[in-house]
Amino acid sequence: MEPDTYLNQACEALLFLAAAPLTVAEIAEILSRDPEDIEETLSRLAAETSIDESRGTYIRPIENAYCIVTKPGLIEVLEKFFALPRRTNLSQASYEVLAAVAYNQPVTRAQIEKVRGVNSDSIIVRLMDRGLIETCGTLDAPGRPDLFRVTDKFLLETGIRDVSDLPVIDLMHYGTIEDMQSSLQRAEESQHTEQISIEQWMSHMHEMNEQLVSSAEKKIQIAIDGPSAAGKSTLAKTLAKKLDILYLDTGAMYRAVAFIARERGLDWENQAEIAANIDTILPTIRYEDGRQVTMFEERDISADIRDEVISQGASIVSSYPEVRLSLVSLQREIAESVSCVLDGRDIGSYVLPNAPYKIFLSASVEERARRRYLELIERGIDTDYREVLIGLQERDERDSTRAFAPLEKQEDALGLDTTKLSADEALATVISWLREKGMKV
Ligand code: DC
Repeated sequence: MEPDTYLNQACEALLFLAAAPLTVAEIAEILSRDPEDIEETLSRLAAETSIDESRGTYIRPIENAYCIVTKPGLIEVLEKFFALPRRTNLSQASYEVLAAVAYNQPVTRAQIEKVRGVNSDSIIVRLMDRGLIETCGTLDAPGRPDLFRVTDKFLLETGIRDVSDLPVIDLMHYGTIEDMQSSLQRAEESQHTEQISIEQWMSHMHEMNEQLVSSAEKKIQIAIDGPSAAGKSTLAKTLAKKLDILYLDTGAMYRAVAFIARERGLDWENQAEIAANIDTILPTIRYEDGRQVTMFEERDISADIRDEVISQGASIVSSYPEVRLSLVSLQREIAESVSCVLDGRDIGSYVLPNAPYKIFLSASVEERARRRYLELIERGIDTDYREVLIGLQERDERDSTRAFAPLEKQEDALGLDTTKLSADEALATVISWLREKGMKV
């Protein structure tokens, strides 16, 4: 056997058996070889194995030591694991960077590079553009000090509440020797002392995926429908807070489409024009401290979309099937990935017809107009009560007579007339109904 091949295999076998980082000096001593030869062999192996696509493991340099680790590079595993339904066109490299960030955050570019074995700067920029990772500070150090973490959008799309919910895959997240040692310590405590094979890892991932799917099935979905100003958003917000789940205001999405269409110079009365440009007028939704934030070109438009003119525009664009189909698929994706309360007009009938909890709120049009009028006055917007009333009547008519997914109460929904109820009374009624239906709240 050529000495070089022998050294390659001996070094790799030793690292494999050690299942821990070994220093060059330790390996040189065990193999009775010159440390320089060992260093030369290992650094070459590190470079070769990191780019060899036929391998599931590679040798990674860690400070003055080396270790053998599983590559986070199996697209089918990562794709399944992250289950990003709208992101099927992410490259393998992007998945690897996402994994490197999610498992190690906050991380520097150099640490991401360490996990992947190759420079990842351009992918980091692309993932930032797509809103999946973000900077979260800088290290007080020279070089490339930016720190990265995954965004709320990533969490929302993957259906996890926090990166600590990610399954433990020790082999993927060694950053420093200390990390590795504590990781091995954890593995030892949980009786998993040996390195796992790719097959074992895949079957572990498969199991995790099944668990994720079955827990997704158990997500709480509460659908609240009703006409404008019936008290849906107040109820949805307080309920979501009480249950510590997400509140998704779907009306804000229709409002945003109307707002963005106007910003882009489109005529919302013109269905063909709106339909032809639908992909350019969809909003981005973010969550900041649990608050839904509507974004358009890096601008927070959450307040702008509450304008009365936009209310009318939203009601108009929401009657176009092309708009509804795009927004409904987004709403379904969110509701399948996280527990949430959704409010709108068609949640119980069309978006989530199988939602276990459906509520239909109503109130007299005069009372709703009074609430909306007071709300506008409070926000400093000079308004005329009659105008608000007429506007509401027009929207009621349009929202409940449109051909596609009109507003209507479902048979299995709890009907609640809030005309004479305070917000607290409405909440208390809904909570006792949820309890009757078996929810622990
Ligand atoms: O709830 P809201 O007033 O913010 O909704 C704005 C408009 O969007 C409303 O006129 C009807 C429409 N909408 C809809 O058609 N379907 C939904 N699920 C939510 C709102």
